[in-house]
Amino acid sequence: MPDNAAFSRKYAFFALLILALAGSAGSFLRFGLVYGIPPGWGQFHNIIHAHSHTMFGWTILALMTLIWQRLPAYTGRPLPRGVRWQMAATLTFSLLQLAAFWPNGYGVTRIGSAELPLGAISAGLAGLTWFWFMALYWRATRDMTQQPHAMKLWNWAIVLLFIASMGAMAEPGLMAMSIENNFIKHLFLHLFLDLFTTGWLLLATFGAIIAYLEDRGSMVDLPSAKLLALFILPTFLLGMSPDLLQSWLFWVASAANLVVASLVAIYLYRFYLRRDDLPLLVKFGLLGLLVQIGSALLMIIPGVWAWGAGTLRIFYLHDMLLLWTSSALLGLLIARFGNLKSAWRSWTEWLWMGGVGVMWLALLLGGFVQWLPLSGRSLLTIAAWASVFIVLAAFMALRSFMPFDKCRATE
Ligand code: HEM
Repeated sequence: MPDNAAFSRKYAFFALLILALAGSAGSFLRFGLVYGIPPGWGQFHNIIHAHSHTMFGWTILALMTLIWQRLPAYTGRPLPRGVRWQMAATLTFSLLQLAAFWPNGYGVTRIGSAELPLGAISAGLAGLTWFWFMALYWRATRDMTQQPHAMKLWNWAIVLLFIASMGAMAEPGLMAMSIENNFIKHLFLHLFLDLFTTGWLLLATFGAIIAYLEDRGSMVDLPSAKLLALFILPTFLLGMSPDLLQSWLFWVASAANLVVASLVAIYLYRFYLRRDDLPLLVKFGLLGLLVQIGSALLMIIPGVWAWGAGTLRIFYLHDMLLLWTSSALLGLLIARFGNLKSAWRSWTEWLWMGGVGVMWLALLLGGFVQWLPLSGRSLLTIAAWASVFIVLAAFMALRSFMPFDKCRATE
């Protein structure tokens, strides 16, 4: 194993711990949707903030771990000084958001005589560690003239993360300037949420998959990272509420989305050709991208976008964030740093796929409930119980990375 193996295993463990804890909050919410949140346990919308912000911490820490692990081999130099502190800060502030958002969301919490917006402060601090990561990455790679494809994808992923972070930073700015314009507020919200999800996460995870595959044989004829990133840029508009978006903007974003879908389809085909080299959970995650391609096509049928944005928003978000990104990242972390040949690992993977698959299906069917012989409540109950299996799998996966300094070859 390379020198930074123990470092990578430690952060793979902590990233997964965040997934398990934020997943527990998500599972609690799922049961809350069926039975209500027990009195004294907090309010639904505040816990959603706690869940979603912390989950972003899982994906970003997992990707940073994969990128930092691979970079020295590409640059031929050790990691820049400061990476260890940056990773510790990203971990701390990602986790802090769970506790900080839970009681009052973006509102203020009284601590002694002070009233502090704990959620906003913790999210701001977590965001600052993302900028720190971007600066360190730029320092490590700036003078490289020849870059492998994985790095080109990471470069553009980081550009999109930078733009998405600007969207997140705009929120307190708008509040300070007392700007109440609904269009502008939603514009910045989706600049963050959608560019983070379909921009940064997509490109960075593609880069991590390609870095993994290239260790086992070179990859050719991959679509340009720059082209993919540039066409992704306007697609965040499609996340906005249909009544806020003028039709010409919808058509610009839809046309760009079709190009993105075609480029993603080419990547998918290239990965399919290398399916024997891919970890099982990465293959499972790639199924989630088929939804992205399908929805890009369906969206141009009149009325479908407006209907889907209302009824399938949570399904689409979890298709991209849970089925696709989280499965792929979990698969890569286990394959790169986890213990090999473990029966425990196999149980973990199947439990994950079963839980995610059933929850995915229940959320999808929820959009069509009026035509089904099932009630909405039954589907919510199925989704809630499926989420227990996902969380269990995340806790079980933690064992793959222990002890940090040694990889057990067999169990
Ligand atoms: C164990 C797996 C998960 C469970 C059980 C879960 C559960 C939930 C629930 C119940 C909601 C609120 C749904 C509603 O309002 O109807 C939600 C929203 C959300 N979740 Fe998850 N989730 C999971 C995984 C993830 C992952 C992996 C991510 C991101 C990486 C994520 C990000 C989000 C976001 C962004 C929202 C929407 C927040 C908003 O409406 O502003 N979730 N989740």
